[in-house]
Amino acid sequence: MADITRRIGLSLGADLCWPLCYEEIVRRLDLSIPVRGDTVRFEVERVEIEPFDLQRKGRYDLVLDRLTHWYATSREWIKKAVLLDDTYVLNNPWAIQSMEKQTTYCAMMRLGLPVPHTMLVPPKAYEPSDDLESTLERYAKLFDLGAVGDHIGYPMFMKPFDGGAWKGVSKLDAEEALREAYDKSGRLVMHVQKAVDPFDLFVRCVGIGPQLRCVSYDPSAPLHDRYTMDVDFLDEDDRSLLEDMTLTINTFFGWDFNSCEALRQPTAAAEQERLAVERARDGAPGAWAPTGDLPHLWRPIDYANACPDSQVTSLHFHFPWLVLAKVRWSIFCAATRRKKPLNLDWQPFFDIVDKDPDMPLRERLAAFGDIARERLQAEEFEAFCAEHLSHLDEVADEYFSGSHCRDAVHQKVSSLFPEHEIESFTTLFWNRIQHWRETAADGSIAK
Ligand SMILES: Nc1ncnc2c1ncn2[C@@H]1O[C@H](COP(=O)(O)OP(=O)(O)OP(=O)(O)O)[C@@H](O)[C@H]1O
Ligand SMILES: [Mg+2]
Repeated sequence: MADITRRIGLSLGADLCWPLCYEEIVRRLDLSIPVRGDTVRFEVERVEIEPFDLQRKGRYDLVLDRLTHWYATSREWIKKAVLLDDTYVLNNPWAIQSMEKQTTYCAMMRLGLPVPHTMLVPPKAYEPSDDLESTLERYAKLFDLGAVGDHIGYPMFMKPFDGGAWKGVSKLDAEEALREAYDKSGRLVMHVQKAVDPFDLFVRCVGIGPQLRCVSYDPSAPLHDRYTMDVDFLDEDDRSLLEDMTLTINTFFGWDFNSCEALRQPTAAAEQERLAVERARDGAPGAWAPTGDLPHLWRPIDYANACPDSQVTSLHFHFPWLVLAKVRWSIFCAATRRKKPLNLDWQPFFDIVDKDPDMPLRERLAAFGDIARERLQAEEFEAFCAEHLSHLDEVADEYFSGSHCRDAVHQKVSSLFPEHEIESFTTLFWNRIQHWRETAADGSIAK
């Protein structure tokens, strides 16, 4: 019987809005949760960047991290905290460091998902290094970019193998455009990838632990309108498939917080590509799982997005969901001292594929989803929320209608928008949050 405080660290970069909301909501929840005979309370702190002693015990039970993917000092600090202090971190820092888009494509191909036909090409230019010249002279074969283009087919996308934030992405309709894009790509190592064309829906499915939210995404809109406010754009079959796919990906890579982009394509339109992939694989793993009688396919295109955008200025209507999902999952993990295996155990996924290569895609995804839910303790999490966080909805409703939240939105907008747009965009995002309050059926925990 002890009073225990679990310390949650927020490791932040340019973030302004969600930490303010998160901190205040946790404060207002005023939690004291009985766990195995103890009473557990929570403190939230912002992690400071400073020299750290590898010998010294760290402060945090859990870290919500927004820096690992680009800031090395914090990444190394977090790895130390996980290994030496038993800290739980969103997300697994090793998996973020090593799993590029390229790896995630290969992994999901191994599981039979219909990833678009993709090739990786050596870069056009190089950073000088000692052995570069002799290596290239000996082993880099001159290749015919036109033949690469013919092999993949047009339209196609060229994009960095480890990309993010649309850097270096171009859509190409013919060989001339491919040559031009390659000439401009410099030192970037590029994929060329068959365009999913046509598609009729683009979804980003965001996962935080076992909680999921599918958002209809419009990449052609300005940043603040890309996450659309549509709500009834998926039927139950599509929704559950996307949820299974996202949980599969996130669990496979040890990412508690990630988003998966998929495009919906009529199965008939994907048929040629499926046949080509099957011929090329000739029975080897990596061919698409049998698609059964699915009327359309969800083609995953970009799902190495660990720690995705969390700002009100892009998420607006969906922002409260994100904040609340972070609150629920972090409190659950910190309170119960959830143990996340740090070694990614891929074999159970491969076993499902290898045991029955003819298992249709939908069934496979359901089987993968079961592994994911178990690893993410979906049932325990749901029971925990019902028992200990039942007042969260009320706290949230009050919080997201109040001045503290409005000020957080204002601060974020002020940091990004020109002076003359600050008031109008603050009002826009604020109204969208109010729209969420009026319409949201939240708490979408993966069943
Ligand atoms: N195979 C594809 N078929 C159709 N559209 C594609 C394909 N690949 C990329 N795109 C388009 O290009 C955009 C950027 O590609 P992608 O998401 O892979 O790159 P990114 O740099 O990771 O972008 P972000 O960080 O914004 O998600 C996608 O949002 C989509 O609109
Ligand atoms: Mg993307």
